[in-house]
Parts: sequence; structure tokens; C-alpha cells
Amino acid sequence: MMNRSFTNVLFGAFGKVQAAAQATQKTVKSATAEEAAEILEQSNYVVIVPGYGMAVAQAQHRVHELYDQLIKRGVTVKFAIHPVAGRMPGHMNVLLAEADIPYTDLVEMDNINPEMPQVDVALVVGANDVVSPAARTDKSSPIYGMPVIDVDRAKTVLVNKRSMNPGFAGIENELYYADRTLMVFGDAKAVVGEIVKHLSGETR
Ligand code: TAP
Repeated sequence: MMNRSFTNVLFGAFGKVQAAAQATQKTVKSATAEEAAEILEQSNYVVIVPGYGMAVAQAQHRVHELYDQLIKRGVTVKFAIHPVAGRMPGHMNVLLAEADIPYTDLVEMDNINPEMPQVDVALVVGANDVVSPAARTDKSSPIYGMPVIDVDRAKTVLVNKRSMNPGFAGIENELYYADRTLMVFGDAKAVVGEIVKHLSGETR
């Protein structure tokens, strides 16, 4: 349960930058779009978590194409919607609706989180703070207590963003160093487009 109010946590995080990473060496694993496509097509259950980066890249139409490719293969695909993903209330719902993604496949955070351990692949598209496990585990984090989408409990996590840079709250995300996480670096529209190309056979 939350032990800080939502707004307190949200606005408490403004403008703060956490101390740099500890001296301990942490490794980040990355995957190509082609590898990501292979991982996705071998899954039974995929949850896509969109964030501000999907909006910046205007990648929602590519995301719909990815959804179509996976559904066609019999993969179950759901979208996990965090209440403050993006920069305004309902931001993700608007973008996904604009791309004609069936709203029946949009699932709110509280309903998707209990399913996370059964999810084969959580695909994060340009989200950062709203999938940060520090919100659950790190009492010193400015986002501690903010409810997040528990993608780190999925069997595999694919994270698309351009770099290791932080998101809105300005804090590092341990998710990127987790054993089960693979980073797929690049602009969301380009990367999701590449994944779709591999799945649709256009590059073969
Ligand atoms: P953020 O934590 O801001 O993370 C977005 C990530 O998108 C960034 O880390 C960035 O990483 C990546 N990105 C940017 N451009 C991209 C591109 N072209 N392609 C791929 N990735 C790109 O976003 P979030 O997870 O959606 O969380 C929202 C944040 O905004 C929360 O902290 C929330 O409190 C705050 N906020 C929300 C609202 C509402 S109501 N939604 C209002 C005010 C504030 P790279 O730079 O590495 O690409």
C-alpha cells in the first residue's frame, strides 16, 4: 500500500537528482530489435508498458502493428496503463485509442500487477519512472511509495529507450541492471518498427 500520498510522491520527486550510481560495477545487457522480435514471438503472454517516450516518438501506430503481429501468432497481448505514465492524465489511453488499439486490451496497473509473475515478456516502450522497482524497495528514493507497474516480476523484461538517461524524476532505474532485463536501445518508433519488420518477414 502507499504510505505517501500520490501527489506528495509525485511532486516530491521534482527536480531532484539522486547521487550517482554506487562504485560497484553493474552490467547492462542489450538486445537488437531482431533478438527482441525472436523473444516476443516465442512468448505466450506479453504485456506492453507504454510511457512518455512512446508519446515523444509517436510510436503508437508501430505499437499497434506489433500488437497485430503477435496476436496473429496466438500470443496474448495486454497493455499495462499506469495512471501517471506520460505527462498528462490519460495520456497513454489517448495515444493507444488514436492508434485503434482495442481498449479491452488496456489493463490498469492494479489489475495487471497480480499477473506479472505469469507474464513471459514485459515490453517497456519509453517508460521509466512508472516501472522503477525502487518505488517498492528503496526507502531513500524520491519515488518510494509511488505505485508502479511491477515489470521486474515478469519472466523477461525488454526495455526500449534511447539511452541510460533518467526519466522525469531524475533517478536511476535498477530495472536496467536486473538479470532478466534486456535493453533495446533506440527511438521507440524506429525500434518497434524494426521489430515489426522482423515479425512480418519484411527483412527476411
Ligand atoms: P519518464 O519516467 O519520464 O521516462 C520516459 C523515458 O522515455 C525516458 O527515460 C527516456 O529515456 C525515454 N524516451 C524519451 N524519448 C524517447 C524516444 N524517442 N524513444 C524511446 N524512448 C524515449 O516517463 P514515464 O515512465 O511515463 O513516467 C512519467 C513521469 O512523469 C513520472 O515521473 C510522473 O510522475 C511524471 N508526470 C506525469 C504526469 C501525468 S499526469 N502523466 C504529469 C506530470 C509529471 P531516453 O532519454 O534514454 O530515451
